Amino acid sequence: LDDVADDLEEILLTEDAIHERIAELSREIEKDYAGERLLLVGVLKGAVMVMADLARELKLPINMDWMAVSSYGSGTQSSGVVRILKDLDSDLTGRRVLIVEDIIDSGLTLSWLLANLQSRGAASVDILALLRKPDAAKVDVPVRYVGFDIPNKFVVGYGLDYAERYRNLRGVGVLAPHVYA
Ligand code: PRP
Ligand code: MN
Ligand code: MG
Repeated sequence: LDDVADDLEEILLTEDAIHERIAELSREIEKDYAGERLLLVGVLKGAVMVMADLARELKLPINMDWMAVSSYGSGTQSSGVVRILKDLDSDLTGRRVLIVEDIIDSGLTLSWLLANLQSRGAASVDILALLRKPDAAKVDVPVRYVGFDIPNKFVVGYGLDYAERYRNLRGVGVLAPHVYA
């Protein structure tokens, strides 16, 4: 994180802490889906890093697919109106589906996505989110696997961006106000 140290006011999660937590969650998932093939659905673009690490950590047969959605339109406030920018390639009929997200903020994106995928005939649809901000929740999302509950601050790294920057940081940090002020 050295080259952007001035842009971060605090490092919340190190690369090691994230990997350790993903390994723990993977052991739970392996038990819960033992003997089955799991379809991991990553939500572009934030979930790319957690998807890549989770998929390689899991000792289960998996498939990976991706969706891109837009929930914010042109405004800064999440509207709850979600548009599909890229749909899945897979048919969900009879599949065990695990949605993989980097963060639950207001919860509006995931509550819409969960309902949308549940309507496609899957055998089950569950959610894994690496991060969750309990104090930012506008709707309650039933998450099966949560990595970390974090404070309601602007965080970047490990897939999470501010203006499309910082996604490639290996850890997660709190963005310093001077960056967006
Ligand atoms: C971010 C994040 C989640 C969503 C969470 O994605 O990656 O997908 O917002 O917010 P919510 O709980 O308030 O709906 P964003 O729309 O910024 O797109 P990105 O993943 O491409 O950065
Ligand atoms: Mn996202
Ligand atoms: Mg974003």
